[in-house]
Amino acid sequence: MIDFYHVTKRFDRYSIALHDVTFHADKGEFVFLTGPSGAGKSTILKLILRQLLPSEGQIVVNGRNLATLKRAQLPLFRREIGMVFQDFKLIERMTIFENLSFVMTVLGVPPRDHKKKAYAVLRAVNLHHRLNAYPPQLSGGEQQRVAIARALINDPYLIIADEPTGNLDPDLSADVMQIFIEANLRGSTVLLATHDREMIRRTGRRVVHLEKGRVGEERPQQAPEVPDSPSTFMQWGSL
Ligand SMILES: Nc1ncnc2c1ncn2[C@@H]1O[C@H](COP(=O)(O)OP(=O)(O)OP(=O)(O)O)[C@@H](O)[C@H]1O
Ligand SMILES: [Mg+2]
Repeated sequence: MIDFYHVTKRFDRYSIALHDVTFHADKGEFVFLTGPSGAGKSTILKLILRQLLPSEGQIVVNGRNLATLKRAQLPLFRREIGMVFQDFKLIERMTIFENLSFVMTVLGVPPRDHKKKAYAVLRAVNLHHRLNAYPPQLSGGEQQRVAIARALINDPYLIIADEPTGNLDPDLSADVMQIFIEANLRGSTVLLATHDREMIRRTGRRVVHLEKGRVGEERPQQAPEVPDSPSTFMQWGSL
């Protein structure tokens, strides 16, 4: 699903953000991308979206070599990927439903399905009762969950997320991780950049560790404390 072959990214002569990075994520896999600040995590995500081009090496996403992707193909290519960035932007003068409906229109979802789909994704993030609220009427964490719902609305084949739990408290972070795990169970491949070691430990998925732009040892997978079945999540309460 994602292949990096000897990818180097230089921004200028003096700074190498990524150095000969090779890694692979399988279809249906859930992979954490971790490493200290400045290690190159966001750069990898931007390369996957082709917001950046590598200086050297090759990147293949879902069978497509990004070097040969034409400019005209970019919007469709990006539309099929669910992205969650920290600076999520909801449109403040639209209600939560209108925000989601707007994205569905772009994605080509027939209008008659908008209510049903909006309700379903908001239910997954526990905000179905706020369909008619405006973003400023929601807390920061609630807005972030709406942004995640928005990224998941069309069951994208690939979800990439940059510090999606960055400014959430531990309980909300756990809820947010469950949303990604559920999406993964429905078939989406997930690549999630995070500093949050506790979250990685609890989730027990494969880790690609970056250190100064190089891929280090992939630490062995630890047994998850939370078994991967939706029914178990029900007992955990929030989905
Ligand atoms: N547009 C740019 N121009 C020049 N250097 C850049 C640019 N973007 C990133 N860098 C540099 O590349 C390196 C990797 O940055 P990146 O944002 O990928 O790190 P990160 O692992 O996401 O860090 P953080 O955890 O702080 O978000 C850093 O040294 C950064 O300063
Ligand atoms: Mg970053």
